[in-house]
Amino acid sequence: MPTSPSDKALRRDRTALAHKVRYAVLNPSRIAPYVRRGARDTWLRLKHPGHVAYYRAVMASDTARNPEAAVGSRTHDRWLALGAMQYEYLLGHGLSPAHRMLDIGCGNLRAGWRFIDHLDSGNYYGIDISPDILISAKQTLTRFHLQDKVPHLTLTQDLTLDFLPAGHFDVVHAHSVFSHSPLDVIDECLSHVGRVLRPGGFFDFTFDRTEGDEHQVLREDFYYRTETLIALAEKRGLHGRFMDDWETREHGQSKIRVSAEPFAS
Ligand SMILES: C[S@@+](CC[C@H](N)C(=O)[O-])C[C@H]1O[C@@H](n2cnc3c(N)ncnc32)[C@H](O)[C@@H]1O
Repeated sequence: MPTSPSDKALRRDRTALAHKVRYAVLNPSRIAPYVRRGARDTWLRLKHPGHVAYYRAVMASDTARNPEAAVGSRTHDRWLALGAMQYEYLLGHGLSPAHRMLDIGCGNLRAGWRFIDHLDSGNYYGIDISPDILISAKQTLTRFHLQDKVPHLTLTQDLTLDFLPAGHFDVVHAHSVFSHSPLDVIDECLSHVGRVLRPGGFFDFTFDRTEGDEHQVLREDFYYRTETLIALAEKRGLHGRFMDDWETREHGQSKIRVSAEPFAS
């Protein structure tokens, strides 16, 4: 059954006291983990004031416990399914072996191993801010015997993409990355992604959508309005489009595609 955000979920303000109380009453078993996560995140925020350093520390802590859960999958079956969902979507949108792909926030290659397998050797480029998850990415690569595809896996500390060549990528992709990013990080990416896209290329990203007030939870989960992100892309000279066909997937996030060229209507 599709799990695209319901109208109620789209209007929910997760920072409101009433929401927290209702959630706690309905999910008593989640109270202790939430309090533990809150305490850990407060400590990590104090230790690492910048967002990237903070989130890198969150990933180090989560990956040490379970790399698949660290990228958001509670079970291995879900890890496989979420990777397949991303892969099949892009295949349906014409991703071919000759294309060059940049996967921003590639994690431990939940989808990346499928893209690597599909693309010609050397055509997959994965970047991430977390050294811990990139070590897990290498293990995924080994487990699926994909060494001969010589993918690039690179640690980054920002999204200026300054070390990548201009006009190089047909597809840039960021799944469940902007759902964990403050607006200035998204803006940095949108300011620079146009430079690395080939003519006719596009950048797809998912985000946690709200139709109420924009808000964040523990500086780990960020909820944006579609208009905010499309306006940000336009400010950076890109064209943005809400991807309706993603909404039918079993995923709680929404998807926007941006491109340097206008979309055919
Ligand atoms: C929820 S995981 C998703 C991983 C992968 N895209 C997938 O779908 O399996 C988010 C990933 O984005 C990375 N990340 C978060 N903020 C980032 C940023 N500003 N630049 C690059 N990677 C980032 C995290 O380290 C983590 O590996």
